[in-house]
Amino acid sequence: MAHHHDHDNHDSESAFHLPRRPRRNRVTAAMRNLTRETELSPSDFILPLFIIDGTDLQEPIESMPGVSRLTPDRAVACAQEAQSLGIGAVALFPALPDSLKDKHATESKNAEGLLQRTIQKLKDEVPDVLVITDVAMDPYSSDGHDGLVEDGKILNDPTLEILAEMAISHAQAGADLVAPSDMMDGRVGVIRTALDDCGFTDTGILAYSAKYASAFYGPFRDALDSAPKSGDKKTYQMDPANRREAILEVQLDIEEGADIVMVKPALAYLDVIAEVRSVAEVPLAAYQVSGEYAMMKAAAAQGWLDEAAIFRETLTAIKRAGADMILTYAAPVVARELNG
Ligand code: PBG
Repeated sequence: MAHHHDHDNHDSESAFHLPRRPRRNRVTAAMRNLTRETELSPSDFILPLFIIDGTDLQEPIESMPGVSRLTPDRAVACAQEAQSLGIGAVALFPALPDSLKDKHATESKNAEGLLQRTIQKLKDEVPDVLVITDVAMDPYSSDGHDGLVEDGKILNDPTLEILAEMAISHAQAGADLVAPSDMMDGRVGVIRTALDDCGFTDTGILAYSAKYASAFYGPFRDALDSAPKSGDKKTYQMDPANRREAILEVQLDIEEGADIVMVKPALAYLDVIAEVRSVAEVPLAAYQVSGEYAMMKAAAAQGWLDEAAIFRETLTAIKRAGADMILTYAAPVVARELNG
């Protein structure tokens, strides 16, 4: 009996000759560690941060327990903490008052704007943490859409000009990667050309390539107060029913110059992640979005799920499906646990 702990599959009075016993590879923790196919690491994570103006303030977001809107100085502290945990990148989302929103998202290219100031501060104070910025009109738009709205329609090509200026402004402020999340046709190519024309050849593009019109974005829109004022996003974000179309979007973005492509949301789209992985030669990101986070936090708060275990399992599944990197609000919690 002394040698029996953890060998519970191997009873001595075995009755059958079974040459293949897959349980042999699971028999001890050491064996499971050796045979594990997918290893999660803090360096896989990108931490999304919501930014508000001011100093030394944080505003909890009700539908995202544990996540707050942070002033730029608090964002720096958060990025420093992330770095100490082994997380190498943050993705910024500014929350602006209605008074700064208009039809053309004018504030998005203000060199002294909240986002631009935050990028500069992060690059000054935590230079080794990658700064990724979202390129889309919604946080700055009085219509709450990712594109320019006219007579209830989202105009594609006029939006591209706005997005290009926005991306240049982010690059000027020091962003390492700009991440168009708008789903307009042709935006990656237009942004690449605009960046190159301005000398920003080292600024990368992380394209939200297969971004679905998902009900999982609700808490994010609470966080930024960025929900569409009318209509929905179904004429630009993808139909959740479609998989082949994701391949088309990814291929176009790669042809247009995307350095990294993304599938979003993550957990309900693991098949899309796997399929994109098999066709795309560039790195693949996945976004475990606000609704995924809220769902797991809510169940954990009830005591119905083990929070640490459920985040670890879902993030492992997203990586196993093929994602090289994952945007997740749970990054610090999971990183802390992985670091043991
Ligand atoms: C904005 C944007 C959204 C998210 C990331 N960038 C919301 C939307 O498209 O409505 C969602 C992220 C999340 O839910 O965590 N273009």
